[in-house]
Amino acid sequence: MQIKTINTQPYSGQKAGTSGLRKKVTVFQQTHYLENFVQALFNVLGDVHGKTLVVGGDGRYYNTVAIQTILKMAAANGFARVLVGQQGILSTPAASAVIRQYQAFGGIILSASHNPAGKEGDFGIKYNVSSGSPAPEKLTEAIYAETQVIQNYRTVDTADIELNALGIQQVGDLTVEVIDPVTDYARLMESLFDFDRIRQFFQSGFTMRFDAMHAVTGIYAHAILEQQLGAPAGTVMNGVPLEDFGGGHPDPNLTYAEALVKQLYSDNAPDFGAASDGDGDRNMILGRHCFVTPSDSLAILAANAQHVKGYQQGLAGVARSMPTSMAVDRVAHALNIPCYETPTGWKFFGNLLDAGKATLCGEESFGTGSNHVREKDGLWAVLFWLNILAVRQQSVAEILHEHWTQYGRNVYSRHDYEGIDSAVAKQLMTALQAKFPSLIHQTFKGYQVAFCDDFSYTDPVDHSISTGQGLRIGFTDGSRLIFRLSGTGTDGATLRVYLESYQTDVVKQTQDAQILLADLIQLADQFANIRHLTGREKPSVIT
Ligand code: G6P
Ligand code: ZN
Repeated sequence: MQIKTINTQPYSGQKAGTSGLRKKVTVFQQTHYLENFVQALFNVLGDVHGKTLVVGGDGRYYNTVAIQTILKMAAANGFARVLVGQQGILSTPAASAVIRQYQAFGGIILSASHNPAGKEGDFGIKYNVSSGSPAPEKLTEAIYAETQVIQNYRTVDTADIELNALGIQQVGDLTVEVIDPVTDYARLMESLFDFDRIRQFFQSGFTMRFDAMHAVTGIYAHAILEQQLGAPAGTVMNGVPLEDFGGGHPDPNLTYAEALVKQLYSDNAPDFGAASDGDGDRNMILGRHCFVTPSDSLAILAANAQHVKGYQQGLAGVARSMPTSMAVDRVAHALNIPCYETPTGWKFFGNLLDAGKATLCGEESFGTGSNHVREKDGLWAVLFWLNILAVRQQSVAEILHEHWTQYGRNVYSRHDYEGIDSAVAKQLMTALQAKFPSLIHQTFKGYQVAFCDDFSYTDPVDHSISTGQGLRIGFTDGSRLIFRLSGTGTDGATLRVYLESYQTDVVKQTQDAQILLADLIQLADQFANIRHLTGREKPSVIT
């Protein structure tokens, strides 16, 4: 088979963000745009002869076009074997699992997570290393540098590769193996959770709805929840993945998973509700008339890990991103295990997981996971909850309220001001930080300021330092106000204000978070001058 070398010219801006290179589909459709990025990646990886690559994506528009290009380039660049999900499908956590299981050299995941899909939507590509972790910054920077000097790429002249049928094909010297996207992942889940018990639980009449939001987890949820665990047909909603995700915004939160939320708050609500995002790494947990914040969910998983076979031997430690509530810290304290506080971004958990320092990790941004893979994992979190519910035979609300009674409630909310002027956002943060010396030890509405800082993190494994990770105002009673600018937005800047107080009064614990946080909400505005500087009367999203 003939290897062709095609001349090309660099594109500016092929710089990967926290989760790879994400651009409009039309940007990716430019001549050689994808090829340049993939060749830059292969150049940086060096000699790939004899190595195995995993390839798959969330099924959005352009997924299979991109996969054909990548497979032909992998053949021309000397890979020995590519494992590709049937029809080009692999969720992000499943890709991470497959990389680990087959000891692949790495994997390419095609996804723009929860960003809208379709011809007018977004597309994305990212590379994960042999541990199953997203590429570290050093690697993504080297790829970017390479995209800026690239002059040609290599591909082979061949017909499109058949992605629908399972099995092995040869493309020149490259062996392409089309694998079932669910099998390996499902087996891993079965090794962690008590499937028999969950099956019995469904048989006994327990009801749930899983909203796949027309994205990749539909395939996984049908296979695992309905076929393997025997949940009745109809348990999975919006379960057929569509190239444009049905025109929706597959981000599992109270705003975007509205149809599911309505069902869980209706008169004949099911016992349990959950949703995942475009590529399957995020999760939202709901009970009958009850919502579990991602921060509380992490704490509850940690506190109940002894009920779940994959974690019965105990947790080495837990980790949460800095703005995630400190609920899990209280559980770690009770279990006498370490709790790590990292900057926002899943990649910061990688070293802790690899070094065996943490077993469970979570973020307020609807991400939860463990050392079973190196990505956050939506369906894993749902199965963990199902296992706990099946063992404890209590409702989600009962488990949540008992947790608060035992540990106290870390009342929590995030207020987002999206699409504000970037210069204004920076000015707001600078002015707030300048105020810190005047706030320290002062008391406002009964809250005494204990510390103010700009969060920085020293990785306990490689000792790398990350500075400027968010402004924190901590109070003597454990309450916190945190201000951060989002690192994932595309339009202007997004200011995130994270509000947290601590409540031990069991009567007050069940009140609405916005009411319990009212004083802190006012203080946030007083300290940061949000309304005045942004011209916004209220946040655009509250979670
Ligand atoms: C992505 C990352 C997460 C991060 C989230 C929010 O989902 O994988 O690790 O928490 O974005 O990031 P942001 O910078 O927008 O708050
Ligand atoms: Zn995602």
